[in-house]
Amino acid sequence: MAGKKIPEVLLNSGHKMPVIGMGTSVDNRPSNDVLASIFVDAIEVGYRHFDSASVYGTEEAIGIALAKALEKGLIKSRDEVFITSKPWNTDADYDLIVPALKTTLKKLGTEYVDLYLIHWPVRLRHDLENPVVFTKEDLLPFDIEGTWKAMEECYKLGLAKSIGICNYGTQKLTKLLETATITPAVNQVEMNPSWQQGKLREFCKEKGIHVSAWSALGAYKVTWGSGAVVENQILQDIAAAKGKTTAQVALRWVYQIGSSAMAKSFNNERMKQNLEIFDFELSEDDLEKIKQIPQRRQYLGDMWLSENGSCKTLEELWDGDV
Ligand SMILES: NC(=O)c1ccc[n+]([C@@H]2O[C@H](COP(=O)([O-])OP(=O)(O)OC[C@H]3O[C@@H](n4cnc5c(N)ncnc54)[C@H](OP(=O)(O)O)[C@@H]3O)[C@@H](O)[C@H]2O)c1
Ligand SMILES: *[C@@H]1O[C@H](CO)[C@@H](O)[C@H](O)[C@H]1NC(C)=O
Repeated sequence: MAGKKIPEVLLNSGHKMPVIGMGTSVDNRPSNDVLASIFVDAIEVGYRHFDSASVYGTEEAIGIALAKALEKGLIKSRDEVFITSKPWNTDADYDLIVPALKTTLKKLGTEYVDLYLIHWPVRLRHDLENPVVFTKEDLLPFDIEGTWKAMEECYKLGLAKSIGICNYGTQKLTKLLETATITPAVNQVEMNPSWQQGKLREFCKEKGIHVSAWSALGAYKVTWGSGAVVENQILQDIAAAKGKTTAQVALRWVYQIGSSAMAKSFNNERMKQNLEIFDFELSEDDLEKIKQIPQRRQYLGDMWLSENGSCKTLEELWDGDV
């Protein structure tokens, strides 16, 4: 596999993005040294795309890995690797986005990110002591238009080559597009064979927004995830017939519907496996069977609901798509 180039998708910004990215969010984060060595391994086996976020705490390690990969000659320049990051919800405000990106760039040790994404359409108090420990009172109203305007500034300053959002449904996107001067390049959402996002994909396609999948493997063995993808019987049958794994079938499905997948594996064999999806094809019949898989979100997001924040109900959070 090493040396083989991963296919890319052309974003509406004119930039290309490898269709498989290494997810870097992890329950029990290893030290920067350990993380960096995992990321160097990932580059070695062919990854050229890392999906990070301020809240993952993995930006510094990606920066170290980039420097090591350059030193080892695995890559010749920074621009061979596509790097995504996201401001945390504590910075989801017009005045705070550009400074948040500058902090991210310092951690990465790079002059730009390839993609900067609003992490959630919600906002948390800026002065939280621990950004992931909060109460309902800490959730504040979220300004769809103003926050996007700040993202556009990140682009105009050249600090982000492409900009986008995560976890936006069709109603929030419609609102954003009313005042946007730049259409988001990417909407990164939970998507996999057991949460296929048909409606949102259709909407985004019409607007020229690329849909990227997080938890393409159903967040297997992650605290809030399940075996809904990796242990699904329909996927197992297809996988067995092709001599592939269910994870590979799931990732191939994401690729064949024209999307890209952020798949996290810190295990050398599985990270290799997750790139080996370009030597087989799902047939119309396979795709039809996959359509029959029962649909359910892994991540409901009830933690983001509050009476004074941006969403009171799951219906509001997901624009009716629950
Ligand atoms: N924008 C957002 O709001 C958002 C939200 C969630 C996630 N994300 C991004 O999406 C990435 C991926 O999502 P995720 O980490 O939740 O879940 P995921 O990629 O669906 O699943 C990761 C889990 O699957 C295991 N795994 C990986 N490859 C496997 C394989 N071939 N066979 C069996 N198990 C395999 C991993 O374990 P090992 O590491 O041991 O292989 C890990 O436990 C995140 O890391 C993050 O970058 C974004
Ligand atoms: C919502 O706002 C009202 C009025 O300011 C306040 O009394 C109430 O405690 C707030 N609720 C939460 C959960 O923050």
